[in-house]
Amino acid sequence: MSEQHVLEEDLRKGLWEEPATLPPRWFYDERGSRLFDEITRLPEYYQTRAEAAILGECAAELIAACRPVTVLELGSGTSTKTRILLDAWLAGGAAGDAGGREFIPIDVSAEITEEAAGQLTQAYPGLRVNPVIADFHHLPDPLPGVAGRRLLLFLGGTIGNFTEEERARFLSKVRARLAPGDHLIIGHDLVKDPARLETAYDDAAGVTAEFNLNVLDVIARTVPTAGLDRGDFRHEARWNDRQRRIEMHLVAEKPVDIAFPSLGRRRRFTEGESILTEISRKFAPGELAGDAARAGFTRERTCTDSRGDFALDLYRV
Ligand code: SAH
Ligand code: TRP
Repeated sequence: MSEQHVLEEDLRKGLWEEPATLPPRWFYDERGSRLFDEITRLPEYYQTRAEAAILGECAAELIAACRPVTVLELGSGTSTKTRILLDAWLAGGAAGDAGGREFIPIDVSAEITEEAAGQLTQAYPGLRVNPVIADFHHLPDPLPGVAGRRLLLFLGGTIGNFTEEERARFLSKVRARLAPGDHLIIGHDLVKDPARLETAYDDAAGVTAEFNLNVLDVIARTVPTAGLDRGDFRHEARWNDRQRRIEMHLVAEKPVDIAFPSLGRRRRFTEGESILTEISRKFAPGELAGDAARAGFTRERTCTDSRGDFALDLYRV
């Protein structure tokens, strides 16, 4: 299906809900991916640095615990932090298995993923790097790689961008595509002071606001519209205490009326009404292990940073 058709289906499902919603993958056109990369370096966005610090502490131990031949990464983006793990992995000498070591980054964002794969191929001459451009909700079954010797990475707190239901479904689908002995590492953000959380998603330089608004440009470029003006919306990040999640909104600053001719529908927004573009769930330490256990994963380790901001869990099938 073409991008236009997939987006039209997603709009049909979410835009007329209250609140209007949209799947996060539409953030990540080439510009969105570059903006996200900028977010990872913002002073307010502690997650990337915390996760990198944990990897620096624990990479060797994690690799020793799972001894992979194939490493796969879902929602890999630039795979920048992943290099810390790859370094520890490749420092361990030959895998001793036919076919050798392979890294498979999987992401919807084609330009960024191919660029990252090219850079990794240069940086790691002995490693086969085979990127897959795919939606991680529709993974190949089984996953590529050596069964029982796979390590699947899901970093960046992306698991927090799923609803409770999506998370459960995702974990059991991933489990079904893996084999006994395979491992999974999930990086997830932890509950903390709401003021720090809201700042992390609404930085002073306005990069996150631009990232959020960029999704309107993706819509305008991908499907026919009339009356869609990004200037009519503003970015807002809100902590939802009951559901323990940050919610990213695009709030209409005045009444807005957008026509979607190919859908044969219009969407009217009242002033102050918003599109919920992203959720980012924050977990209590150990909370994710329950969900993973229900999907068939056993937790082997948890590593956190010294500040207790972020956690990496290692699971075994
Ligand atoms: N892992 C990186 C990037 C996290 S941002 C890090 O930790 O910094 C989320 C990544 O997931 C982006 O690269 C985005 O393109 C990708 N992504 C978002 N939705 C996706 C989907 N449905 N399928 C595959 N990749 C997706
Ligand atoms: N996985 C990231 C997170 O939840 C994605 C993200 C970071 C994000 N900043 C954002 C998504 C701003 C939308 C808007 O932290």
